[in-house]
Amino acid sequence: MKEHIQQLLEQTVSRLKAEAIIPADAAPRVQVDRTKDKSHGDLATNLAMMLAKPAKKNPRELAGLIIDHLPASELVAKTEIAGPGFINFFLDPRFLAKQIEAMADSDRANIAPVAAPQTIVTDYSAPNVAKEMAVHHIRSTVIGDAVTRTLEFMGHKVIRANHIGDWGTQFGMLIAYLEKMENENAADMDLSDLEAFYREAKKNYDTDEAFAERARNYVVKLQGGDQYCNTMWRKLVDITMAQNQAIYDRLGVSLSNDNIAGESLYNPMLPEIVADLTAQGLAVEDDGATVVFLEEFKGKDGNPMGVIIRKRDGGYLYTTTDIAAAKYRVDNYQADRILYFIDSRQAQHLQQAWLIARKANYLPESTTTEHCAFGMMLGKDGKPFKTRSGGTVKLADLLEEAHQRAVKLIGDKNPDLQGDELERIAHTVAMAAVKYSDLNKNRTTDYVFDWDNMLTFEGNTAPYMLYAYSRIQSIFRKAGIDAASLNGEITLSHEKEEALANKLAQFNDAVNGVANKGMPHLMCTYLYELAGAFMSFYEACPINKDGVSEQDKASRLRLCQATANTLKVGLSLLGIDVLERM
Ligand code: ARG
Repeated sequence: MKEHIQQLLEQTVSRLKAEAIIPADAAPRVQVDRTKDKSHGDLATNLAMMLAKPAKKNPRELAGLIIDHLPASELVAKTEIAGPGFINFFLDPRFLAKQIEAMADSDRANIAPVAAPQTIVTDYSAPNVAKEMAVHHIRSTVIGDAVTRTLEFMGHKVIRANHIGDWGTQFGMLIAYLEKMENENAADMDLSDLEAFYREAKKNYDTDEAFAERARNYVVKLQGGDQYCNTMWRKLVDITMAQNQAIYDRLGVSLSNDNIAGESLYNPMLPEIVADLTAQGLAVEDDGATVVFLEEFKGKDGNPMGVIIRKRDGGYLYTTTDIAAAKYRVDNYQADRILYFIDSRQAQHLQQAWLIARKANYLPESTTTEHCAFGMMLGKDGKPFKTRSGGTVKLADLLEEAHQRAVKLIGDKNPDLQGDELERIAHTVAMAAVKYSDLNKNRTTDYVFDWDNMLTFEGNTAPYMLYAYSRIQSIFRKAGIDAASLNGEITLSHEKEEALANKLAQFNDAVNGVANKGMPHLMCTYLYELAGAFMSFYEACPINKDGVSEQDKASRLRLCQATANTLKVGLSLLGIDVLERM
């Protein structure tokens, strides 16, 4: 409510400026406070007193002008001028109630799509071919997916770009090894353990000179478009991505094969980019390599830092590919925003690639590039998350363990649940837990992965949020009510009802926060507070008890409905499904 009045006053200030009632350079901090005494209305501002001096007017007179220029709003029932020039606002109590009724009725919790949709590219997940998805990919995958869903929900056109690592000199060795495996055991080629595959390929390359020779030859052939090498390369990509897709599907991540836009897509564009950067005078030959010197980045010696875009042997680099990717996203999609969900350690790499792309006019000023950086995933010991033997934790194994733990958690709480029903509920809880515990922390910090913290019903956790939702459903079941048929009027008479309604009305801010900052924890924090406001409301305001008036009962059920709806929509934006019972 406060924010709404604040916005009205800010618009009023612009109107007063337009009419030269106040000077154009006045920049007042618009302050709106709750009144202590209800006879003075609900909210008040001292804006007229702050602007009196620059406007060279008496504060009460200016207060009158402010009221005259206030945009119309359903929320404001009455205004009055008080004392030396305060403006008091009397709010319409039905306004908030009506807003919450609309949230209860709408499957979007009454969030309107934006008036001017943008085209937004989200670069996330981005695993590497012939490698198991590693823990840092889960952060990018889950955070990127939540922001993508939120932007789409708001009506933007979102293009998912899965920038997979599917090109580079390692493919010579990988093709040579795949060939060797196919020759040796054509019948049961097992590529389920990509980690082992990569390791073996590397071992062969390091120890077998004939193999290494073949591998180097395949790199050249692959780059030259050789059919055989291309087929082998495709196989490696397809096998890897089929395994990753199974992980996406299990986790409920909205990526598909159609979203793959890996390094190989940009590779054919690189010679032209290097030639153009050179022609523009941005890149120069330096000791056989092609380099862009950037004044903005100083090396240890204080000289401009050189960013290599083509190596002496003619090979291109990760930076060159990201320059091409930025250009492609502007040229092909006319992207307004490009969001990169990448580890914070790649910050300098991205800054350099974008700076070069801007200097070359590949990236116009109207397109923003945003690094939605995140910290590392650590174990409870504060060290990078590893298996007991120090190896990479496979995402597939992590999801399986989450599932087993969830089966135990839910089974212990609810011994009647068994079989398929238990499996189904555990699946939802497990995937929710893995996602939510990553999403609910400010992504810029390192994230300590802890099974016990994520699979508990206490605190800001997935089980708690899912429980809050299913509890409301059980209120409806107990009252023998079909929530969809509720249509009572909301009256906010109890303090806890009002607090819950106010929290519900902030959902819009949470959605916008995630969309604008690329920070899903803002939604988690909001939903946790909402669940808390609901629990306090439910304790203080009975529904199915004797002595509760029909009107209060109807109103409270509507508040339950609005809360359930908002929890469901909010969680869906995080990529989390709700459970009707658990
Ligand atoms: N494949 C890379 C990695 O595993 C991440 C790519 C991120 N996206 C990008 N446009 N550079 O670290």
